[in-house]
Amino acid sequence: MEVLKAIAERRSIRGYTAEKLTREELDTILTAGLQAPTATNRQELHFTVLDGGDPILFDIQEAMGARLRPTMNFWYDAPTVIVISGERDFRWTAVDAGIAVENMALAAEALGLGNVILGCLKAAMDGENRERYAEAMRFPEGYTFQIAIAVGHRAVEKEPHGFDRDKQVTILL
Ligand SMILES: Cc1cc2nc3c(=O)[nH]c(=O)nc-3n(C[C@H](O)[C@H](O)[C@H](O)COP(=O)(O)O)c2cc1C
Repeated sequence: MEVLKAIAERRSIRGYTAEKLTREELDTILTAGLQAPTATNRQELHFTVLDGGDPILFDIQEAMGARLRPTMNFWYDAPTVIVISGERDFRWTAVDAGIAVENMALAAEALGLGNVILGCLKAAMDGENRERYAEAMRFPEGYTFQIAIAVGHRAVEKEPHGFDRDKQVTILL
């Protein structure tokens, strides 16, 4: 039941207080990512933890172009950003990264922390600075950016998104 509650209550939080995560909270979230299933149990993902004040984030923001985020940086001032990289040439890397990041989002939710999954930096991460970013974030050789997640204490609220079950579901029973 607790899992279902976390799934139902998770939503993207786009504003954070300055309060840092404890080491225990961070470890719990990382463990949730590491416990996610991967195709053939390849475990081809790498997790890089960045402080919200890390200059590399501001560098990426700059590379993304201020036009994309005129009022707020792309990590919404979250105190922690976790970047997932993965083996470039493995067929299931993107799917595995998606599963891992959702595991982490649910773990953060269960800890009472806000979070938002971040894909908007992908073009910058794959762009002309990709090698410098990969080195700065200690991606293993042959790994590329997959997805990121910002985590922290909520400064704003948001309702979970609605959905249209009839449009999205077909039950052929
Ligand atoms: C793969 C993926 C990438 C996303 N990238 C971003 C992003 O770069 N910035 C952002 O603010 N939200 C991002 N989101 C959050 C979605 O906008 C959000 O999940 C969606 O609007 C539904 O809202 P909810 O998460 O509050 O239910 C991303 C979500 C996913 C699954």
